Amino acid sequence: MSRVMVRVRVNGAWKEAEVDTRTLLVDLLREEFMLTGTHIGCLTGNCGACTVMMDDLSVKSCTVLAAQANGADVLTIEGLAPKDSGTSNLHPIQQAFIQHHGLQCGFCTPGMILSAYQLLMRNPKPTEEEIRVSIAGNLCRCTGYQNILKAISAASERTLQQSGKRALRR
Ligand code: FES
Ligand code: FES
Repeated sequence: MSRVMVRVRVNGAWKEAEVDTRTLLVDLLREEFMLTGTHIGCLTGNCGACTVMMDDLSVKSCTVLAAQANGADVLTIEGLAPKDSGTSNLHPIQQAFIQHHGLQCGFCTPGMILSAYQLLMRNPKPTEEEIRVSIAGNLCRCTGYQNILKAISAASERTLQQSGKRALRR
């Protein structure tokens, strides 16, 4: 089995690990870097629970090899809000999910939030249709889609009031 050294900038800090060449990015994050906020649902690219940002693009981290992320900038749910900041200083999208009951069991939530993050970074004022399309690759088993739509829409309004993209940036 061949091994490879992988160096990734995760949530602003460089981390490295030696992994099997077949290791997936989601396993690198969860098992080597202990960032278990990125969830595993299907491992087939269907559910979106493993969604993270890689070089400013949302990716399903079960479809990316850890070796492909070498040198990349990765953002996981743990990196959205400052560490130990409490609920008062959560990212605006996280706050909107709490305020609009955009989660039930929370399993899909990290992936949903990072898909919403990508949408709002590109399109600060999306239509409902655009929000629906942006989370089409994220499945919620609790079927709380209506409140998820409301939460993303509220996050958009809130960040527009707070000067758009700057409010979204970590
Ligand atoms: S675990 Fe990656 S898409 Fe489901
Ligand atoms: S909140 Fe339970 S899977 Fe979405």
